[in-house]
Amino acid sequence: MLDRIGQMMVRKANQSEQRPVFDKAGEIPRHIAVIMDGNGRWAQKRNLPRIVGHRSGMQTVKEIVKAADSIGVQTLTMYAFSTENWKRPREEVDYLMKLPQEFLSTELEELIERNVRVRMLGDPQGLPPHTVEAMNIAEERTRQNTGLQLNFALNYGGRTEIVKAVQDLARKVQAGMLKPEEIDEAMLTQHLYTRDFPDPDLLIRTSGEIRLSNFMLWQLAYTELWFTDVLWPDFTKELFFEAIAEYQSRARRYGAV
Ligand code: FPP
Repeated sequence: MLDRIGQMMVRKANQSEQRPVFDKAGEIPRHIAVIMDGNGRWAQKRNLPRIVGHRSGMQTVKEIVKAADSIGVQTLTMYAFSTENWKRPREEVDYLMKLPQEFLSTELEELIERNVRVRMLGDPQGLPPHTVEAMNIAEERTRQNTGLQLNFALNYGGRTEIVKAVQDLARKVQAGMLKPEEIDEAMLTQHLYTRDFPDPDLLIRTSGEIRLSNFMLWQLAYTELWFTDVLWPDFTKELFFEAIAEYQSRARRYGAV
């Protein structure tokens, strides 16, 4: 018995040495969600202020958006600021709030050319007006675009999103528009920020943390998870394709056999 376990462990170790190869003609995840983690540690390792890490992380965002677009990903959702990130020092929060504006000031024209549609997922209340305005302009100017759907999760919390959906449904029940027994998974899904998108097929998280951090808790139920120790500013399109290759090698069973 121990022998068999030993053989299985060796086989597993050998398997992990063989890196799957990304197949452009294979199945491309329709929706990829990304937790962009490790900006602060990237900066600390270089004795730089944390905000320099975020700035560098923004460059990675540009590269990954282009990579996703180039292979026909339909939806890319980037976790840019969580409802918990308000606990950070004021200076860092202020800086993070400026990034959407800065990103869009240099990228929006190219995104429009690429037929990318930009949207914000999250609660606009509580965000500074300049952040909301930058997102509104990007949403408005890309509204007709039918290519990559690029979502920035800003002031986003998975639990809050579900609570808001439940409140909406409760209001409909109270108004007599809906019976409690009519509420099902599909209906709840239609009351989430992500109502226009399929659930993510693949979640990528950088920086070695193996957790979801309140991101898309409902939507990730059957998502394939992929983690890397690489810090977000060091993440590259090659690693992005490696994550997709790994996705392509997995068998998704959704609870069946
Ligand atoms: C987590 O790293 C990262 C964030 C909270 C912010 C992510 C934002 C960007 C990458 C830029 C967003 C760009 C646009 C266009 C909106 P961390 O600071 O928690 O890193 P640490 O765990 O090493 O401290």
